[in-house]
Parts: sequence; structure tokens; C-alpha cells
Amino acid sequence: MKQFESFYITTPIYYVNDKPHIGHAYTSLICDVTARFMKLAGKNVKFTTGTDEHGQKIEKAAKVKGIEPKEFTDEISVTFRKLAELMNFDYDDFIRTTEERHEKAVIALWNRLEERGQIYLDSYSGWYSVRDEAFYQESELIDGRAPTGAEVQWIKEESYFFRLSSWQNKLLELYENQPNFIFPESRKNEVVSFVKSGLTDLSISRTSFNWGIKVPGNDKHVIYVWIDALTNYLTSIGFPNIDEEYKKFWTNSFNVHVIGKDILRFHAVYWPAILLAADLSLPKQIAVHGWWLNEGEKISKSLGNVIDPIGLAEEFGVDQLRYFLLREASFGQDGNFSKKNMISRINSELANNIGNLVQRTISFLHKQCFGVVPVVDRNLLKDDESLPNCKAIIDQVMDHLSKYEFNQIILLIINISSKANAYIDRSAPWTLSKTDREHMNLVIYKLLEYIRIIGILLQPIVPKSAEMILDQLQIPKEQRDLQSLCSARVSLGVTLPRPTPIFLRIDA
Ligand code: MSP
Repeated sequence: MKQFESFYITTPIYYVNDKPHIGHAYTSLICDVTARFMKLAGKNVKFTTGTDEHGQKIEKAAKVKGIEPKEFTDEISVTFRKLAELMNFDYDDFIRTTEERHEKAVIALWNRLEERGQIYLDSYSGWYSVRDEAFYQESELIDGRAPTGAEVQWIKEESYFFRLSSWQNKLLELYENQPNFIFPESRKNEVVSFVKSGLTDLSISRTSFNWGIKVPGNDKHVIYVWIDALTNYLTSIGFPNIDEEYKKFWTNSFNVHVIGKDILRFHAVYWPAILLAADLSLPKQIAVHGWWLNEGEKISKSLGNVIDPIGLAEEFGVDQLRYFLLREASFGQDGNFSKKNMISRINSELANNIGNLVQRTISFLHKQCFGVVPVVDRNLLKDDESLPNCKAIIDQVMDHLSKYEFNQIILLIINISSKANAYIDRSAPWTLSKTDREHMNLVIYKLLEYIRIIGILLQPIVPKSAEMILDQLQIPKEQRDLQSLCSARVSLGVTLPRPTPIFLRIDA
């Protein structure tokens, strides 16, 4: 990840048969935070998201509402865009699979596969689940249902097939040669054993419904929704044009797809095989996160325990929600959502620790120095070991980032804040104000430096609040990146505004 100058990160595109929930917010949040850190590190970043709008599931859902599929998808796609805006996701492109540019990309990909002899027409019979948009083998069924619990029906129809089976060895080579292609390792092992158990050719068209992109030259067939959906990752970089944008963000970038564990097979097996077969470059990584559970239980509509991110953001604050989701779950593992935990994290870490540090430092500066940053000899701070070592911090942050360990990055920041709070108590500037004002000035300045470092590091995690912190310190916009963490300092002699509380406590 570190050695590439360009970085391309994608969310899965979301099905529009349902309202956005906490799982969708989480997948996109991971991409947003990673993209923001990469920008802070000075990389060229592209971050895309969007909606997956074709397929039988959507056709059915529109029918139930008595409207045309396009009208239906227009309505729901907007709710995903609104969620992204509300959550402050700084994406560069929002792809809808019903857009013309996307249809062009899908058809071009299909044609490339066909030209290379990778597609043939045959007929298919098997157990099909509309909900999962996937076929299952008899042996995979559990009590007559798909392994996911979805209903299945016996289907026999004419279908185009992709020669997936002939890519088995190449895929195994890929997993072997690029050990981080599937991250984390446990997911990779799952995929390797699936591929080793043998691949059959993949049915890639349907004749049983209409809502989708037609197979070129055969209108009876609609292109399988997963081929359609996966292509979105190419659409946004301008495929079928293989131009500068394509080279910058696809071939020569660290391009990573972030997904939930439920859609692993599509991304880690089918997608690379399709790209290999079409003679196109591959993503560098498929990063797989776990699921959110609600108080320990799987989230589902039928259990009525779906968690609404919009409601939570309104109740606790957008940054507070972002913070909690990143703090509570370890990447790759399931996370347990509980309001009680959320409140306790917000209060103890954001309000009592970081918020309190900013509030007490700047209030004290106003009380003792009329809000003017003391003019101290900054040389005295050069080798001050009580101040955080910025270079080491950046290395640690980038190392955690390459493993999506956001909770470790947060712990690192909290640790800096706890140290600063302990430093206030230890150096007791309120006593120094009466006995040694020069020393007091140095203590205040050091605290402002601690806060500057915390503010810069917090930006990708809680963007609005971090901006307030950095504004409060009057840090110029161009000095808020990771490089400035080491090279810049809080300006001397400037007057800082009176403190406004950054993180409020929540009354349980
Ligand atoms: N449309 C497909 C993806 C096509 S990408 C080429 C799809 N959409 S989805 O809307 O059903 O899911 C999108 C993402 O949300 C997936 O990564 C899924 O793992 C994630 N989540 C859905 N429920 C979730 C939780 N309860 N917790 C965490 N993420 C989960 O699949």
C-alpha cells in the first residue's frame, strides 16, 4: 500500500431493494477513513461508491410497490447518497448501474470475454435464490434452503457461461504470489480451500426477467447481476477507455475493494478470474470486514433489529457514530453494536479525555494569557522527550492503516491525549502561574502542541470535530497533513478564539 503513489478504494455498490442500514454505513466508513488518511499522507486518492440497481430482486420489489423499476431505483439510490453525505463520506464518484457509462463498460467487458473465447451458450438447471442472486448445488442446501437461509427454487433455463473452471490454477497462483491479495489471512484460507475444491463454469445470463443489461446480440438474455455490479469498479475509471486515468488508478495504483464477508466469493474468485480472462489488470487487494451484530444477534429485517445509522447520527452526532464504529470493531471480525457501549466510549474517550484536554488548555490560556499563544523558545522543545515523536507516530499510523487497524490508530491518539492530561496534572500550571510564568508558558505551549498532533490525526476519523480543534488552534489549512505533523508547530503570539466544547458528554 505504502509504495504506491495512487490509491483507489471502492465500497461495494449497494442493493437498492432496501433502506441503508448500519452495515452499509460501516463498509463505506472504512473506505472513507482509509481514503482520508491516504490523502493526508499525500497520495493521489480516488474513492468510489454507488448503487447496484439491476436484477430480479429489484424488479420484484418495484412490482410490489406498483411502479417501474427505474422509478423505484431512482428513489432508493438517493437515500444511499444522502447517507453518504450525512456521514461525511468524501467520495469522488457515485456509480449507478443504470447509468449509460456503466452499461457501456459492462458490454465492453462482455465483448472482451467473448472475443477471447471465454463465454459459451448452454443450458442450466439448479437451485436458484433470488435473494442471493446465486445458484446453489444440491449438496449445499440446508433443510431445503440456501446456506444463507434464503429460499431457493429449481430453475432450468438457457444461459451463457463463463469458463471459470479453466482459471482455477491461475487463481491459486495469484493467492500464492500475492499473499495480501485477500486480507485478512483467515478469509484467504477460506477462498483457497473453496477454489481447491474445484470450480465449475459460471452461469452469467438470465432469461427469466428483464430488468438488466441485455447480452450483446441476444436480447432474450440479461447479463447476470454480479458481472454487471462488479464492473462498476472499472466504470468509474473510464473503462472501456484504457487511458491515463485507467493506468493511474487501476494498473499502477494500490486498488482495493473493501467488502463484507458475505460477498467474498464474488470478489476474490469470480472477479479476478473475469479480469484475467479479459486480459485486464487485477485489484491489488480485497479487504474483508466482519458483520455488525445487534446486542449479539444477527441483524435482520425479520428479527426487527435493523440499526438505522441516520437515527443514530441524529441522536449522538455523526462524528460520534463514526468514532464508535471504528473504535469498537476489529477489522475482519464481527462487531457488537450496543448503545450503552457507544455512550460509554463517547463519554470516557471523546468527552472526558480529548474534549476535556482541549477545553481545559484553551480556557487556561484565556485565563492567564488573554488567549495569546505564549512566545516561547521553540528550541527548548526540540529534544523534549515528553512530547510525542511525530515521525514514529506516522510510521505507526501507516502500519496500522495497511492492516485497517483503525481501533489501534484511535488507541494511539487516546494515548497521546491521556499523556497530555497527565502532564497537566503533573506540571500544575495553575501553581506555576504564581511562581514561574516562563515555565507556565512552556507548559501551555507543549499542551497546544499535543492538541495540534491529536487534531491532525483525528481528521480522517472525526472530520468535523478535528476541524474545530485545528481551527481553535488557528492551524493553517495547508499545515494539517501528515508531513506537517513533524515540520510545523503551533504559531507563536496568535490569539486563539475562546474554546467551544468539541465533544459533549451524553446523559445515559
Ligand atoms: N450489491 C451487492 C454488492 C455488489 S459489489 C460489486 C451487495 N449489496 S448489499 O447492499 O447487500 O451489501 C453491501 C455491503 O453491506 C456488503 O459489503 C455487506 O457485507 C455489507 N453489510 C450488510 N449487512 C451488514 C452488517 N450487518 N454488518 C456489516 N456489513 C454488512 O451485496
